[in-house]
Amino acid sequence: MAVTRFLTGITTSGTPHLGNYVGSIRPSVAASQRPDVESFYFLADYHSLIKIDQPERIQQSTLEIAASWLACGLDPNRVVFYRQSDIPEIPELTWFLTCVVGKGVLNRAHAYKAAVDKNNAAGLDADADVNAGLFMYPVLMGADILMFNAHKVPVGRDQVQHLEMARDMAYAFNHRYGEHFVAPQEVIDEQVATLPGLDGRKMSKSYDNTIPLFAERERLKKLIFGILTDSKTPGQAKSTEDSALFQIYRAFASPTETAALANDFAQGIAWSLAKEKVFERLDQELAPLRDKYQSLINSPSTIEEQLQAGAAKARAIATPFMAQLRHAVGLRTLGRKGPSRPEATTTKTALPQFKQYREADGKFYFKLSDAKGQVLLQSQGYASGREAGAWVKRLQTEGPSALNALAGQVQMEPTLDPQLVIDALTALVQSQSD
Ligand code: TRP
Repeated sequence: MAVTRFLTGITTSGTPHLGNYVGSIRPSVAASQRPDVESFYFLADYHSLIKIDQPERIQQSTLEIAASWLACGLDPNRVVFYRQSDIPEIPELTWFLTCVVGKGVLNRAHAYKAAVDKNNAAGLDADADVNAGLFMYPVLMGADILMFNAHKVPVGRDQVQHLEMARDMAYAFNHRYGEHFVAPQEVIDEQVATLPGLDGRKMSKSYDNTIPLFAERERLKKLIFGILTDSKTPGQAKSTEDSALFQIYRAFASPTETAALANDFAQGIAWSLAKEKVFERLDQELAPLRDKYQSLINSPSTIEEQLQAGAAKARAIATPFMAQLRHAVGLRTLGRKGPSRPEATTTKTALPQFKQYREADGKFYFKLSDAKGQVLLQSQGYASGREAGAWVKRLQTEGPSALNALAGQVQMEPTLDPQLVIDALTALVQSQSD
């Protein structure tokens, strides 16, 4: 039952291109299908505000990125797929973390430092045109990760420093307020090569050399025919090493197909023929995904529904966890005893209760009800009674902090005050130590 939790965010600041597909979307979707992982994917739209002040572009990019991930096979029933700005707990946690992270740590963040260096070089004020969002970016990212106590965070090399900072924030918070966060670890896939773009440099929006992932067939063809090649004529042997065309082909083709094209290069294949082959091979993989993408893009409300469902799953974790953190730092209800000290009048009979039962579907369930019988938590169905029982045991002994591990497996009435769940679980833990 040791499930590893993966989490990654995609900034909603552009249109997905082939480099994003090969480097991020395709491997992430494959990883999300593994049975021993629990995956969280989110559209980092708060992050996009740092760079983009055109509302339509942000909305359009959010739509395109969501549609791309879904078209490429991300299954929202298997993973938690949500939009960052649907989780108000994230900016709230950002503030908590802001208050434990050193300002000096943020001064050293690469993105901020690069902006400062550029200004200094230009003889401008160090912070000219630098918004505070850029400065705070690592804290928002830390909150994204710590909110869900992710173990593993797949990112590019440029993000490693942000993961170090997220760990820093976790330690700093835990040191002050007790063990609430796990230290997240970056995952860098050495296998996935960076894809070259039209001009041979790394495919990147900042070089303006990208091929959009879902360009129409004719457009895709035109773009592939525009990939920079040398001026070798048909019959002259061509090098695969420094050929962007060849690298792109390899990212899509099987090893056998790749070897065959390498042979064609050695035999002096004409560039136009090579491009034709590359185009057809890419289109073979992309055409079915493009069809799905088109139908998704044409139905934004379907995507919106899926994001809302994802947000509900994410908030079932974030809301009670945030209540726990609020209490930990001292943001507490007055006049009612906090969850670490349940009502003194609580008697054994007034305790909340777990019930385990089996449904007609043959699966095993549990639910938590308060003393009056109101259902506070409802579990999913488990294949075995033992598994359901193990979770009940954990909730009874670990209390609210175990909720985090139950990501997506339990549901709370959306109208219910999550504090009630926290209080109930805390009361149960307390009663065991009495
Ligand atoms: N900063 C990341 C990037 O630019 C995107 C991101 C935001 C992210 N929040 C995250 C990635 C949390 C991983 C985890 O690529």
